[in-house]
Amino acid sequence: MQIVLASSNQNKVREIKEIFAPYNIQILGITDLDVDIPEIEENGNTYFENALIKANEVAKYTSLPVISDDSGLEVEAFDNGPGIYSARYASNLGGYIPAMKEIIKTCNDKNNYRARFICCIVLVNYLDKPLRFDGLVSGRIIPEIKVGNGFGYDPFFISDELEKTFAEYDPEIKNKYSHRAKALEKLLAYLKESNQ
Ligand code: IMP
Repeated sequence: MQIVLASSNQNKVREIKEIFAPYNIQILGITDLDVDIPEIEENGNTYFENALIKANEVAKYTSLPVISDDSGLEVEAFDNGPGIYSARYASNLGGYIPAMKEIIKTCNDKNNYRARFICCIVLVNYLDKPLRFDGLVSGRIIPEIKVGNGFGYDPFFISDELEKTFAEYDPEIKNKYSHRAKALEKLLAYLKESNQ
């Protein structure tokens, strides 16, 4: 089976390809389609809306099933932000290090470090209606930034199921415990069942 992944975020593409690698499913990136897809504006109000916008746009160019991921970090002390604005928040501040420093300051001020990563995967071009698969990982922000593997906000987030930040583990560990892994697990289970 081939599935197109509607994302130009190379970190996500890499992670999703790694997660699907053991299964008989080939993930194609937008660049593998050999079509010119204009920049997609993510102007939805929820992860689901944004994921659907991206998936529907790419589905105009292929008859293959298309999946799309919208994700973000929600920090309690930060009014559950930056959430759907996670990427934009970092780019407005000039990168992930300044963004994490700002979030740490707020967590320190409020003495609340609880946070979670959210992922919403949408599948279109499969049935006549879009399907959604959600993943969530609860954890905490730590006041140091542990740069290493991974991307984005990985260097200061520790899942409740783990002991170190996502950035400090090899990708195989993050790809087992992450919000994205949890959403993709549900998608894989669904695909297995619906193909029988
Ligand atoms: P999107 O491409 O609009 O869904 O942006 C998601 C943003 O959320 C990313 O660019 C990161 O800022 C953040 N994010 C989502 N998933 C992760 C993750 O697994 N690790 C670290 N940051 C993440």
